[in-house]
Amino acid sequence: MEIIYTDNNATTKVADEVIEEMLPYFGELYGNPSSMHTFGDQVDKKIKQARLRVADLINADPDEIIFTSCGTESDNAAINAALNAFPDKKHIITSNVEHPAINKLYQHLRETKGYEVTFVPVDKKGCLNLDLLYNSMSDNTAIISLMWANNETGVMFPIEEIAKIANEKGILFHTDAVQAAGKIAIDVKKAGVDMLSLSGHKIHAPKGVGVLYVKKGFKFSPFLIGGHQEKGRRGGTENTVSIIGLGKACELARENLTVMNTKVRELRDYLQSQLLEKIPGSSVNGDLALRLPNTLSIGFDAVEGESILLMLDREGICASSGSACTSGSLEPSHVLMAMEVPFKSAHGSIRFSLSHYNTKEEMDIIITTLVPVIQKLRDMSPFWKDGKMV
Ligand SMILES: Cc1ncc(COP(=O)(O)O)c(C=O)c1O
Repeated sequence: MEIIYTDNNATTKVADEVIEEMLPYFGELYGNPSSMHTFGDQVDKKIKQARLRVADLINADPDEIIFTSCGTESDNAAINAALNAFPDKKHIITSNVEHPAINKLYQHLRETKGYEVTFVPVDKKGCLNLDLLYNSMSDNTAIISLMWANNETGVMFPIEEIAKIANEKGILFHTDAVQAAGKIAIDVKKAGVDMLSLSGHKIHAPKGVGVLYVKKGFKFSPFLIGGHQEKGRRGGTENTVSIIGLGKACELARENLTVMNTKVRELRDYLQSQLLEKIPGSSVNGDLALRLPNTLSIGFDAVEGESILLMLDREGICASSGSACTSGSLEPSHVLMAMEVPFKSAHGSIRFSLSHYNTKEEMDIIITTLVPVIQKLRDMSPFWKDGKMV
């Protein structure tokens, strides 16, 4: 069965060009980039090229780039460094729709280290309450950390505007740009952020490699203490092959930004409008305008997201519950709950997240598959009668 992959916010296919770039470094070019000899030095040169390519994607300087093992590590390292830099400040600001890489860490810091954490709420469209955000900033705030774009709904926060206020107040600002990278243009200088996290596997590089951008001048304390790698900011022999792959992926992401904002956006909009038109009792989660071009979180009244996914899976269609009901719990995701999405559609929400590999034919297959799937599930649902929710 041909697979239709629309779960790119979970992970992406490693691009063929990326695999090609990495292959020699799995095989004959296995030197350690820290070695003095020419054999190791050629790997070091390739890592330097990767660093430059990553920096180019976000308009950073190459020595502001620290390679990590994933987005989660980048997020944790950023927060850790901020709190170390300001040991007397005990307040942290974030939103209530962050990824667990941020919100679980903050819960941990609150419970074990006594930090006061403000989880700024979002409105029904997933947009941040900026008044509450600005009012919660104080002299005691060590760091503000907000995601650039939400992984479930694709809703983007006004990072540039918030960073400006944070800078004026002298508060460090970190953004988790794991979902934004490769989908929208990112310019760290223009945005004015102090730290920014990326993850390789969301942009067609392999899993197990990430990036933390740290603005020049910030006294960054290492999360992993060890060797001199990454200028002493992250000890440990580099994941050379994946870093080289990530460099290539960043170069491709830069080239593909226009495709993402034309072809991919059009495919997403086509899928969205067709599903809304053909399936009554369906609604989109999140602000329609302030959204990543590839993401569609859509709720269907009176059905279970998990059941929809299982039935799509049988037809080779990979999507995600988006509402990611945590196993063992029937609660919809914290993101949809924070947006006060009505329970009936939060429960039946699924997420399609596209890439430039998707086609119009695939969208048509999803539409023609999903319409009868929802009908069938509603026929069995006690909450659906005579074409409407009861
Ligand atoms: C917004 C966001 N932040 C952080 C992460 C964690 O990234 P990684 O899987 O590389 O640890 C993810 C992954 O889904 C994400 O969507």
